[in-house]
Amino acid sequence: MADQKAILKAGDKEIELPILSGTAGHDVIDVRKLGASGYFTFDPGFMATGSCESAITYIDGAKGELLHRGFDIESLARDSDYLEVCYMLLHGDAPSSDEYQDFKRTITRHTMVHDQLNMFFHGFRNDAHPMAMLCGTVGALSSFYHSDLDVNSETQRLRSAHRLIAKMPTLVAMCYKYNIGQPFVYPRNDLSYAGNFLNMMFSVPAEDYKISPAVERAMDRIFILHADHEQNASTSTVRLAGSSGANPYACIAAGVASLWGPAHGGANEACLNMLEEIGTVDRIPEFIARAKDKNDSFRLMGFGHRVYKNHDPRATVMRESCHEVLDELKIDDPLLDVAMELERIALSDDYFAEKKLFPNVDFYSGIVLKAIGIPTNMFTCIFALSRTVGWISHWHEMLSQPGQKIGRPRQLYTGSAHREYKPIKK
Ligand code: SDX
Repeated sequence: MADQKAILKAGDKEIELPILSGTAGHDVIDVRKLGASGYFTFDPGFMATGSCESAITYIDGAKGELLHRGFDIESLARDSDYLEVCYMLLHGDAPSSDEYQDFKRTITRHTMVHDQLNMFFHGFRNDAHPMAMLCGTVGALSSFYHSDLDVNSETQRLRSAHRLIAKMPTLVAMCYKYNIGQPFVYPRNDLSYAGNFLNMMFSVPAEDYKISPAVERAMDRIFILHADHEQNASTSTVRLAGSSGANPYACIAAGVASLWGPAHGGANEACLNMLEEIGTVDRIPEFIARAKDKNDSFRLMGFGHRVYKNHDPRATVMRESCHEVLDELKIDDPLLDVAMELERIALSDDYFAEKKLFPNVDFYSGIVLKAIGIPTNMFTCIFALSRTVGWISHWHEMLSQPGQKIGRPRQLYTGSAHREYKPIKK
C-alpha cells in the first residue's frame, strides 16, 4: 500500500486522505475517516467506489482482461476445468494434482440434497419461473444447515462452500424437472461435474442419456466463464448480506435474487428473447434504431458492461464455444445468423462504438445453452449455478479478513426537515 495522500478542499476545510495501491488496477482514496470531517462520499450505483479489498478476481475494463487468482480467463477456459477453477477461487492458488483429486472427491460426495427438500418443490406452481424456485430452495438449505453453523470457523465456512458448489447443479436440475413434470434424477458420482449436471437435466428413468463430450466440454466452459467477476451486483449482495454474520445459504439465495435481474444475470434469457423477437436479419435495423432512441427504454440485451469498455474476454471465448457446439451438433440455428449479423452491425455502428457497447458474456452463452437443449427460462439458473463459487469465495474471503465490519452505507437525505406532527381524529 503506497503512502501517497489525496487533499480534499471542502468549504474552509482541507482534508488529507490516504491513497492505497493494490497489485494492479486503480489506486483508491481511503475515505474511512472522512465522516468525522462532516462529509460522506456520494456514489449511487458505485460507479467509482471500491467496496472491499479482494485477491480473488481482477478485471481491467480498458484492456478487456479478466484474471482469477492471476490466471487469465482465456487459459483457464482452454486448459482448466470448472472444479479446478473452484479450488483456485476458494483457496487462492491452483491445486496440485492430489489436491485437485481430493477436492473433486469432496464435492462429488456432497451432491445429494436432503430428501425432504424435494417437498419444497411441491409448494410451487409447476409453471413457476425456475429462478423463483431456485431462490426458494437455496434459501431453504439454511433450514437444514443452521443450528451448529459457526461462520467464524474456517472449517465450517469451507464445508458450507463445498456443499453449495456440490448441490447447486442438483437443485438447478430439480427446478427444470419440476417445471417439465419429469421425475427428479439423483446425482451420479461416476460422472464429471458437468456430465452429472447434464445427466440430472436430461436423463429419464425410461432410457439412458448419452452425454456428448462436446456438450459436456461446452457446459464446463460455460461454468468457468461465469464463475466469478469481482464486485458485480450479485456478489456485492452476498457480501453485504454475509457481513451481518447471516447464514451462508440464505446469503447465496440473496445473490440468486440479485442475479435474476435482466440488467445482470437475467440478460442471457433476455438476449435470447430479444433475438427471437427480432426473428430475421432484415428486422435488425429496426431494433438498432430503438436501442439508440432516447425515448425508447429498449436496450440490446447482451451488449454493454459497467466495467468492460473494450471487449468482454468471456464473450470472445464464448463465441468460439458457440461455433464449436453448433458445428459438432450440426445445428444450423437461424438465431445464430441473427446474432452474428446483430454483432456485425452493432460493432460497425458509431453509436455503439462511442458508448463502448460490445457483446458481453451473456450474448453468446444463451445461444450455446439453447443449442444444448436448455430452455431459455433456465439460462439464469445456469449462471447462478456457475457463480455460486464466486459468491461463496467472496463471502469466505470477507469473513477471513481481520476487523471485518457489517456493511452500512450512508445517504444524501433530501426528505422533509423536522415538522410538527398533528394527530388526526381516528
Ligand atoms: C452481467 O457487473 C458485472 O460484472 C456483471 C456481469 C458478471 O459477470 O457478473 O458481467 C454479468 O450482468 C453482464 C451485463 C448483462 N446485461 C445486459 O446485457 C443488459 C444490457 N446492458 C445494459 O443494461 C448495460 O449495458 C449494463 C447494465 C450492463 C451496464 O450499464 P451501465 O454501466 O450502468 O451503463 P449505463 O446504463 O449508464 O449506459 C451508458 C449508456 C447509456 O446511454 P446514455 O444515457 O449515456 O445516453 O449506454 C447506453 C445507455 O442508454 N446503453 C445501451 C446499452 N447499455 C448501455 N444502449 C443500448 N443497449 C444497451 N445494451
